[in-house]
Amino acid sequence: MTEPAPGRVDMAKLVSLCQRRGFIFPSSEIYGGLSSCWDYGPLGVELKQNIKQAWWRAVVRERDDMVGLDASILMHPRTWEASGHLKGFADPLVECKSCHLRWRSDELKGNGCPSCGGELTEPHLFNLMFKTFIGPIEEQASVVYLRPETAQGMFVNFENVVNTSRKRLPFGMAQIGKAFRNEITTGNFIFRCREFEQMEIEFFVRPETDKRWFDYWIEERTNWYVKLGIKKENLRLRQHSQEELAHYAKECYDIDYLFPMGWAELEGIANRGDFDLVQHSSFSGKSLSYYDEETKEHITPYIIEPSAGVDRSFLAFLCDAYGEDVVEGGPRVVLHFHPDLAPIKVAVLPLSRRENLVSLAKEVYADLRRNWMVNYDDAQSIGRRYRRQDEIGTPFCVTIDFQSLEDKQVTIRERDSLNQIRVPISELKATLQAKLEGEDLFVLPPGGQIWKEEKT
Ligand code: GAP
Repeated sequence: MTEPAPGRVDMAKLVSLCQRRGFIFPSSEIYGGLSSCWDYGPLGVELKQNIKQAWWRAVVRERDDMVGLDASILMHPRTWEASGHLKGFADPLVECKSCHLRWRSDELKGNGCPSCGGELTEPHLFNLMFKTFIGPIEEQASVVYLRPETAQGMFVNFENVVNTSRKRLPFGMAQIGKAFRNEITTGNFIFRCREFEQMEIEFFVRPETDKRWFDYWIEERTNWYVKLGIKKENLRLRQHSQEELAHYAKECYDIDYLFPMGWAELEGIANRGDFDLVQHSSFSGKSLSYYDEETKEHITPYIIEPSAGVDRSFLAFLCDAYGEDVVEGGPRVVLHFHPDLAPIKVAVLPLSRRENLVSLAKEVYADLRRNWMVNYDDAQSIGRRYRRQDEIGTPFCVTIDFQSLEDKQVTIRERDSLNQIRVPISELKATLQAKLEGEDLFVLPPGGQIWKEEKT
C-alpha cells in the first residue's frame, strides 16, 4: 500500500456516511464488533446486489461463451493440497516483543514495530486458510477449510460443465461467492476483510491463444468499471514482478484503484496456465483434459482468470460517486452513482401530508415499486428530503404537489443536473425507464406542450 492519496475523499467520511445511512455496520456491533468483518445494511445490500447483477449481466447473461456456477464453500480437503494453498498460501508473520501486535514482515518499512518501535520476532509463515471440522469429531481426518477463493470450485467442475453445457473452447465459468482469509493485517474499512465476496471468471483457452485472451480480459474488465462510473484516471494497470507472482500464475496484472489510502488492487487478472487442471487431474486421478473435435486431440486448456472483489468494488464505486457541493446556498453531500448501481432508483415525495395528496402519491409509489426499489418519504421539508435522497445516491425524485391533483402531472427532479421536468403520470414510468437507461432526451408524449424544464 502506498501513502494516502491527496485530494481523495477521506475514508473516515465514507465510514461515517455508510454507518449513518445504513450502508455498512461493524459486524456484531452490540458486542463490540469483530475485527475486519462487516454487515451490509438496507442500502448496502442493494448496492452490493446491483454490483453483482451488473457483473453477472456483463460476463454471463450477455455472452455466449460463459456459464455460471455456484459451488459449495466447503470442499474436499485434497482440493487445497492440489491447489497449493495448504503449502503456499501463507504470509510471513512477525510479532512485537513489547506490545505483541502482529504484522506482515513483507509489508513493513523499517525493522521495528510500526506501533511502538519495539523489537520484532523472526518471521514465520502463517497459513491464511480458516480451518474447521466436518461432523461431530474434531480430529485431523475431519478437517476442512473455508475456501480462500471461489476459483477452485470452478476447476474441479471443469468436466461436469464441459459435459453438460457442451461449450467449446474458448469458454468460461463465472462465480460469485464468499471467500475467507485469516488476514494478518486488515483495516482500511472493507478493503481487506477476513470474510469477503469475490466475482471470479475462469476462462479456458487453447494454450497458444493465452496472450490474446489475457489482453482481451484486461481491457474488458477495465472498461466495465469505467462504464459504471469509475473515472479512468483513478484506475491503473500494474504488472506483478516475478517475485510477487502467485505460485500458480505465469503472468498477472492488477487493476489498481486510487483508494483514499492510495493505489491498491481492485481486481487481479492472472494467466494460470494449465497449473490447476494438471494439479487436480493428478491429485484426483481423473482426466481433466478437453477433447478437441477438430484436431482429434486431447489438450489441457490454459486458464485466464479475472478475479474481482465485491467489497473492494463497492468501496471504489462509493469513493468515485462521493461528492460535496452547494445547492440553494446550502452544502450538499451527494453520491453520483450510475443508475444501475444506485440502491434506490426513485423517491416519491408528496409535498404535504394532506390526505388527497398522500393517496395519489401512494398510488404512484405502488405502481413504480413494481419495477424498481423506490422510497416513499413525506417527513420534513421538500429541500431536506431532496438532500436525504442525494446523500444515498437516488437518481430521481418524483414530487407530487397540489397541481398534480388537477392536471395529473408530477415533477421529476434529477440528482446530478438538478433539472426538473413535469410529466403526466401516465408517462412517468416510461420516462423514468428511459432516464435510468441513460437517455438524455425526453420523448414527448402526444400533446407534448405539457413538458417543461426548469432549474432549481
Ligand atoms: N483466485 C485468485 C484470487 O483470489 P486474489 O488477488 O488473491 O486472487 C482476488 O483476490 C480479488 O479478491 C482481489 O483483487 C480483491 O478484490 C479481492 N480480495 C482478496 N482478498 C481480499 C480481502 N481480504 N478482503 C477483501 N477483498 C479481497
